[in-house]
Amino acid sequence: MVHKVKGVVARSKGAPVTLETILVPDPGPGEALVDIITSGVCHTDLHYKLGGISDDFPFLLGHEATGVVSAVGPDVTNVAPGDRVVLNWRAVCGNCRACNRGQAQYCFNTHNATQKMTLEDGTELSAALGIGAFTEKTLVAAGQCTKVDADADAAAIGLLGCGVMAGLGAAINTGGVKRGDSVAVIGCGGVGVAAIAGAALAGATTIIAVDIDAKKLERATELGATHTVDSSTNDPVEKIRELTGGFGADVVIDAVGRPETYKQAFYARDLAGTVVLVGVPTPEMTLELPLLDVFGRGGSLKSSWYGDCLPSRDFPMLISLYKQGKLDLDAFVTERITLDQVEEAFNKMHSGSVLRSVVEL
Ligand SMILES: NC(=O)c1ccc[n+]([C@@H]2O[C@H](COP(=O)([O-])OP(=O)(O)OC[C@H]3O[C@@H](n4cnc5c(N)ncnc54)[C@H](O)[C@@H]3O)[C@@H](O)[C@H]2O)c1
Ligand SMILES: [Zn+2]
Ligand SMILES: [Zn+2]
Repeated sequence: MVHKVKGVVARSKGAPVTLETILVPDPGPGEALVDIITSGVCHTDLHYKLGGISDDFPFLLGHEATGVVSAVGPDVTNVAPGDRVVLNWRAVCGNCRACNRGQAQYCFNTHNATQKMTLEDGTELSAALGIGAFTEKTLVAAGQCTKVDADADAAAIGLLGCGVMAGLGAAINTGGVKRGDSVAVIGCGGVGVAAIAGAALAGATTIIAVDIDAKKLERATELGATHTVDSSTNDPVEKIRELTGGFGADVVIDAVGRPETYKQAFYARDLAGTVVLVGVPTPEMTLELPLLDVFGRGGSLKSSWYGDCLPSRDFPMLISLYKQGKLDLDAFVTERITLDQVEEAFNKMHSGSVLRSVVEL
């Protein structure tokens, strides 16, 4: 059976998104059909719309989602109809060289549904990050579903599906932030603020938020930053050193992803400290650093894919901490909107006042 539902589609580069009728097939082997409850509007959806990720238009946007499984393919055992799930965009294969050595968070062979969703005229849709969640129903690989408690707010926990997990994981998993560490986070959008919350959760004692937008810094303080630096008027490297006894932070997280912010992160870290790059650069960007400084400053320079998360391990654990009141996921949900307001939400992204707009289906 094919399901006819509404979905938010980017038809061509830069064009405003439109609400279209889309066709979603029943799940085949290894697939799950999911009724979406909520889906956050992420910067990556905007990147897709602007043609910054690929030219495979039309895109079915949306990927930070909570839903309920409505049907599964014949061989699926990890989820069943009726399960509340948070979707992820890195379904581990269990069989590649990373998985085989017990590092499934790095899986090199992540996968999506095999069948395609289409427009009514049969045009195949490219689902954003292999999900496509601004729709009433979507088709994913069963491994993209993580079963979660049904009693947590769907809008809040769905954000673990992308940006919030990327930030939390950049601090906790990739950066390995420990009790007593000093941490600086450059760029305090959804991802950076989540990194701040992650550093606070891990017990960091000095947490420095850096942004060029003062409004972002206010929110960073609410989520755990102990100090803020407005880098539109201050040299962030100098300020971070000042705030850490003249040395630099143990872990510096670049949640912007530009050569200049990466250099700030590199020089604002203490000797033998860690830099984590979680912001995503664009193809034309290059980095030049004295190789002697790379050697002489020691430590480690790491990149964080999806917060090096393992959804089956991390989503239920973080939802449990949320329910205990130790992780404020509600603070990331700035507004709740309908499917036809996604374009408006993209426009608001630049206003600085919205951390996440979340579509409720
Ligand atoms: N690694 C991953 O797996 C992963 C996952 C999701 C998102 N991301 C990436 O993380 C980055 C941040 O995403 P977001 O949703 O938080 O975006 P966002 O647009 O909400 O936030 C970016 C923040 O950076 C600030 N900023 C911009 N230029 C700056 C500069 N030069 N110095 C200091 N601050 C600056 C902005 O004011 C804003 O607050 C994006 O590049 C996104 O693509 C990565
Ligand atoms: Zn694998
Ligand atoms: Zn995202």
